[in-house]
Amino acid sequence: MNSVKGSSRDGPVLVTGGAGYIGTHIGAALMKAGHRIVILDNFSNSTPLAVDRLNSLGLGCAELVEGDVHDEALLDRVFSADRFSGVIHLAGVKAVGESVAEPIRYYDINVGGALSLVAAMVRHQISRLIFSSTATVYGDPAKLPVAEDASLQPEHPYGRSKLMIEQMLQDVAAAQPWMRIMSLRYFNPVGAHPSGRIGEDPKGIPNNLFPYIAQTAVGVRDEVRVFGDDWPTPDGTGIRDYLHVMDVAEGHVAALTHLIDGGGKSGRNLAVNLGSGHGTSVLEVIRAFREATGREIPYRILGRRPGDVAAYWADPTYAERLFGWTAKLSMAEICRDHWNWQSANPDGYK
Ligand code: UD1
Repeated sequence: MNSVKGSSRDGPVLVTGGAGYIGTHIGAALMKAGHRIVILDNFSNSTPLAVDRLNSLGLGCAELVEGDVHDEALLDRVFSADRFSGVIHLAGVKAVGESVAEPIRYYDINVGGALSLVAAMVRHQISRLIFSSTATVYGDPAKLPVAEDASLQPEHPYGRSKLMIEQMLQDVAAAQPWMRIMSLRYFNPVGAHPSGRIGEDPKGIPNNLFPYIAQTAVGVRDEVRVFGDDWPTPDGTGIRDYLHVMDVAEGHVAALTHLIDGGGKSGRNLAVNLGSGHGTSVLEVIRAFREATGREIPYRILGRRPGDVAAYWADPTYAERLFGWTAKLSMAEICRDHWNWQSANPDGYK
């Protein structure tokens, strides 16, 4: 019997921020794998309708707790109600530009929220934590593909808030050797659940490429703005490592299973990339989307976006060695599923 102090094998999994884009897909993958889940979300950038949709997929019924990870009394109530097998922490804010304008809010929500959560986990002796980190912690990488031991130089408050959380969790892991902590550094999660029932529903004008393309294809936006065609890349546009959000979700299930089966490292917050290992340019993405959907995607070349970097993609081999995970779904499947969601829900969950 694997009994790292305090955590059960088959108790529910707490998913903070579980009503959001990545959280709902992780919820679907966890329930499909037989886990019970409890979602904690304050709906600051999401809607309870997303949880209703998740619960309509026929995979199980997520329990929903509306509230904030800063609320210590609420966390105490949640953790007293059941013996959790683990926690997946996604709740946070993630817009780069906003983080530059409002750093205090970003550090409060991201760093303060994670601190409150991990303190409650220590109080209740819940050992397994998977933290939602980002490839942004690498900044502009000196070497490609980017492995976990690359230097960490985030270029904005959002990225620094994520790195600070990783460092804080490392210190907590060192002081609490019974804990098993992992930080998953996502590259660019895109796409949607193949049912088309859940997907990304950004508020306002999307910052990121995929929702912008999808909204252009469905007619909500006139044309895609391509931020620069003078980057030192083969076609001059930026290159990123896009991976299907269901692959990201399966990565969490594999990581959690690994921790439940006795994996992880005492005293360490293990940082692990979740990426496909392939880079795709903006123009290649537009082409793939057009081919997968048959829709015209008008675009216009604009200047570079401040803070962007030319190209990066992951070395994803550590995740494969550690818990047997690789990204399986292709760019064509990503575009098909993203379109499936967007065309069935042109206005998101509304
Ligand atoms: C962005 C964030 C990153 C965050 C991630 C979350 C920045 C600088 N980085 O990553 O910190 O973790 O989102 O999902 O915001 N592009 C266009 N037109 C658009 C949008 C994007 O040409 O309308 C280009 C960008 O210049 C880039 C590529 O598409 O080359 C991908 O951009 P995006 O989807 O915003 O992701 P990242 O910038 O990689």
